[in-house]
Amino acid sequence: MTIQLLTTKKGSQISKYIYGQFSEHLGNGIYGGIFVGKDSRIPNVNGIRKDVVAALKELHVPVVRWPGGLFADTYHWRGGVGPNENRTKIVNVHWGDNTETNSFGTHEYFDFINQIGAAAYLNANIGSGSVREMTDWIEYMTMPGESPMSNLRRHNGRTDPWEIKFFGIGNEAWGGGGHMRPEYYSDLYRQYQSFLQQYDPEHPIYKVAVGPNGNEDDYQWTDTVMKLAGKYIDGLGLHYYAKNDTDGGTRPRGSATDFDESEWYRTMSQALYMDEVIARNIAIMDKYDPQKNVDLIVDEWGTWFDVEKGTNPGFLYQQNTLRDALVAAITLNIFHHHADRVYMANIAQMVNVLQAMLLTKGDQMIKTPTYYIFIMYRQHMGAEAVEGFGKVPNRVSYSASQKDGKLTISLANYDLQKEQTIDFRGMDDFTEIIDSTILTSYRMNDCNTFNDPDRVVLEKFTGSQLVDGQLQMTLPAKSVITVTIR
Ligand code: AHR
Repeated sequence: MTIQLLTTKKGSQISKYIYGQFSEHLGNGIYGGIFVGKDSRIPNVNGIRKDVVAALKELHVPVVRWPGGLFADTYHWRGGVGPNENRTKIVNVHWGDNTETNSFGTHEYFDFINQIGAAAYLNANIGSGSVREMTDWIEYMTMPGESPMSNLRRHNGRTDPWEIKFFGIGNEAWGGGGHMRPEYYSDLYRQYQSFLQQYDPEHPIYKVAVGPNGNEDDYQWTDTVMKLAGKYIDGLGLHYYAKNDTDGGTRPRGSATDFDESEWYRTMSQALYMDEVIARNIAIMDKYDPQKNVDLIVDEWGTWFDVEKGTNPGFLYQQNTLRDALVAAITLNIFHHHADRVYMANIAQMVNVLQAMLLTKGDQMIKTPTYYIFIMYRQHMGAEAVEGFGKVPNRVSYSASQKDGKLTISLANYDLQKEQTIDFRGMDDFTEIIDSTILTSYRMNDCNTFNDPDRVVLEKFTGSQLVDGQLQMTLPAKSVITVTIR
């Protein structure tokens, strides 16, 4: 099969924020996974795990969404600032009814994203909070001069304001965030965003509105919100998970590790469906916003399986196999193809929750197959998308981009048995393969465990050759490959 890559045609820039992450107060997503407290025997800086920070730095994480998720609509930020002993202990009603100590709050979040070099994406509480609570929080975080809230921030040990890059107004307002109708949410959004004070005109806060439930094909939501509030929105946040949820989630979703071939392919088709969800939402956005002033943000995506046996059902702790790696690769390829509208995405979630990058147990930490996909795909961040035409083999997904004279092609062959051969043309200006990596494993459900942490890792790929402007590749079954040439 031959694909002609249009390397001389100007493509859209792949926003680095597509490689964003999501971290919620949920299970061990924050506590234990990121934050262990200053007095922990686990090596840390200001209570934040050193091993986790080091691993995340390798990914060049561009942005972290926090504090939720559903948790955001129960979060009252004041309980999470000031001396630890005075922080408010609350019940995390959405996630296992465990005690939330609030010892990881605003200051700890900014410390964490600063340690990993990421930008801030915070989510306001519009479910059980108020406009006043939100404006106070914004003032606390970003007001440079004298004011009640900035004085409180200084009193709590932080002199300079922080920068908020993205700010979400609500979360899943159509569901657990308030069960609102899109008309009502649109008005609420307009009201909240009116009071979102921009204290730093050089770094305006980018406003994200609640977008549709992609798993329910709720295009009416997109239509109404774009119509009624579109002109006040910077990004519309779609949520779509690869999960077996046609019955509203009452049936088991299937094990993350113990699955058969039909489940593998079902998960792949759920991942591929992201393309349709994005395309249909973009078509609606185009109707109201042909200039593409409003971006599409996929601020929750990933696999969602049954929790690991013996773990708290409210903690959403699942293992991560080669299947998850293929889902990540397919999804990132889809985002690249829609780079003209998709500006940010946040995989759910960064550590110990759903499709995680990292899993921790006490002082141990492992990198998941998904982590390695994010390593492999780093080179696409900020690059220019390259489109191609020609026949793509069945069960292969690919995307390409170029930056600094280098062309990177990533491919996912999700066929469980067949290898695939593919020829890329249009590369007369390129002479040398400079990087060639593969992620695969013997069995489809192989994963990294605390006893066997390196079962699924990146290896050098030797099945590609560049001859006379043609890149020929043979992709093994169930593999993800990235090749960079210059
Ligand atoms: O990521 C887990 C949960 O999924 C989030 O809290 C919520 O927004 C979504 O339903």
